[in-house]
Amino acid sequence: MLFSITNPFVFTVFGASGDLAKLKIFPTLYELMLQNRFPKEFYIVGFSRTKLTQSAFRKIFKESVEKKFGKDVNTKVLNALIKHVYYFSGQYTQIEDFIAFRLFLEKTTKKRKIEHIAYFSVPPVVFKDIVRNLGETRRSKKDDIRLIIEKPFGEDKKSAEELYHFVSQYFTEKQVYLLDHYLGKTSVQSILHLRRSNRILSHMLHGSEIANIQITAFEDIGVGDRIGYFEQVGTVRDMIQSHLLQILALITMNIPNHLDAESVQREKHAVLSAIDCPCDSENIVLGQYKHYSDKKGVSKTTRTETFAAVRLFLDQEDWYKVPIYLRTGKKLHEKHTYVVVELKKFPFQPKHEEPNRLIIELQPDERIHITLVNLHEDVQQQQEITTTDSIACSIEGCLPDHGTLLLEVIKGERLHFLSFHEIISAWNVVDQITSLSQKNKLRLHRYEHGSMGPKAQHTLPKKDGFSWYDIH
Ligand code: BG6
Repeated sequence: MLFSITNPFVFTVFGASGDLAKLKIFPTLYELMLQNRFPKEFYIVGFSRTKLTQSAFRKIFKESVEKKFGKDVNTKVLNALIKHVYYFSGQYTQIEDFIAFRLFLEKTTKKRKIEHIAYFSVPPVVFKDIVRNLGETRRSKKDDIRLIIEKPFGEDKKSAEELYHFVSQYFTEKQVYLLDHYLGKTSVQSILHLRRSNRILSHMLHGSEIANIQITAFEDIGVGDRIGYFEQVGTVRDMIQSHLLQILALITMNIPNHLDAESVQREKHAVLSAIDCPCDSENIVLGQYKHYSDKKGVSKTTRTETFAAVRLFLDQEDWYKVPIYLRTGKKLHEKHTYVVVELKKFPFQPKHEEPNRLIIELQPDERIHITLVNLHEDVQQQQEITTTDSIACSIEGCLPDHGTLLLEVIKGERLHFLSFHEIISAWNVVDQITSLSQKNKLRLHRYEHGSMGPKAQHTLPKKDGFSWYDIH
C-alpha cells in the first residue's frame, strides 16, 4: 500500500509562472496525484507577479504536465488535479498583497486551519521579501507553515548566515526545509540504504581500506536560458557546493544507528566540516567551454567556470591521506553521474593489476558494480569479474526527485533535507575555491563541446599516482 496523505493542505508555489515550476513542480504534483497520494481536500496555489486569471493559470499548469508526459498523460487524473489549482497575483515586496493573499487563502479554504507549504521557486533576490511578508501576515506563530527553499542557500558562507538569521526572525528551523534535489533521487538515497543494510559495504567503505574516491557529474547540456543565474554562480557554487559534497558525505559518513533526520544530518555534517581542501592551483582545475562568452548577457572577459575538478582530503583519522577527487562540468560528452571507490591493493600485488572498485552509478543508469580480479594460474591470465545490478527504484510508487521530497515535507519529515550546519560547512570549502578564482589565481582551461573537459583535470589524481576511472 502506498502512503497517502490524509490531512488537507495548501501548497503555494511562489514564482509559479517561472521555469522551475513548469518543468519540475507541476509535473511532480501530477505524478503524486496519479499515485493517489493526495487527500480529498487540498489546494495548489500559484503565486507570482504576472497578472493571470485562474483559468489562464490552470491552462499553463495543464500544458506543462502535457509537455512533460506527452501522450502518456492520464487526462482524467489531470482534470481532477486541475480542479484543486488556484492562482493569486501579487508583488513580493508588498505586504498589502500578502494580507490579501491570506484573505484569499481563508476564503478558498473556508477559514479552516490547514497546513500551508510554501515552495520558493524564485530567484534568491526575492527570498527575503517573501519570507518577511509571509511571516508578518501570519495569524499566529503557531500556524502550521513549512517553507521549502531550494539550493543555493546564499552565495557564500556570509550571505548564507545572514539569510539564515533573517529567516529565523520569522520562522523556526523546523519550519524550513532546505532542499537539494539530488537527495530526492532514489539512486542517491540508495547510497545510505545500501550502506546500512550491507555489512560487506561498510567494510569496503572504511578509510583504511581505500586508495581514493572519485565523484564525477558530467552534463551534456550547457547553461541554456539560465545564463543570468549561472554567470553569478559558476559550476563550483552550482554543482559542488551542494550536490557533489552531499554525495561525498553519504559515501564517507559514519552510519548512524537511527535513520532519522537529526542523526543523518549530524553525520553528514561531521564529514563536511572535516573537509580539508589544500585549495591552490595544484589542487583545483577550472575550465570554461569554448564560445561560452559568446552567449548573450555574458561579458567577453567572463571568468565564470563551467567545469571544475578538485582534490580534497578529510581531516579524520580513518581517512588520513585518502585523496578525494570531484569533477563536474557542462557541455561535456555525456550526462553521467557516478562514484568510484578504489580499494587499496595488497603490497604483493603487481603494479599492472587493477584494484578492486566499488562503483555506484547514479544517473542516467542506476547501478552498483563491485569489481573483483581472478587469476587463472594455468594460463597466467587475470580476469575481472563485475556485478552490475540495477539499484533503480522499479516498484510501484517510485517517484522522481522532487516527488519524494515534496511528499516528505507534506508528511512533516525531513530525512532527505539539509541542515543549516551542513550548508555552512560546504560554503567553507567552496569559499576557499571561489576566492582563489576571484583573485585570478587559477587558470581557466578552455575545452571543446562534447569533450571530456580540460586535460589538466588529469594532474589531480596523477599527483597521487592514480588516474580518473571513466565508465563508458
Ligand atoms: C541544478 C543545477 O541544481 O542541477 C543545474 O543548478 C544542473 O545547473 C542540475 O544542470 C543538474 O541536475 P540533474 O538532476 O539533471 O543532474
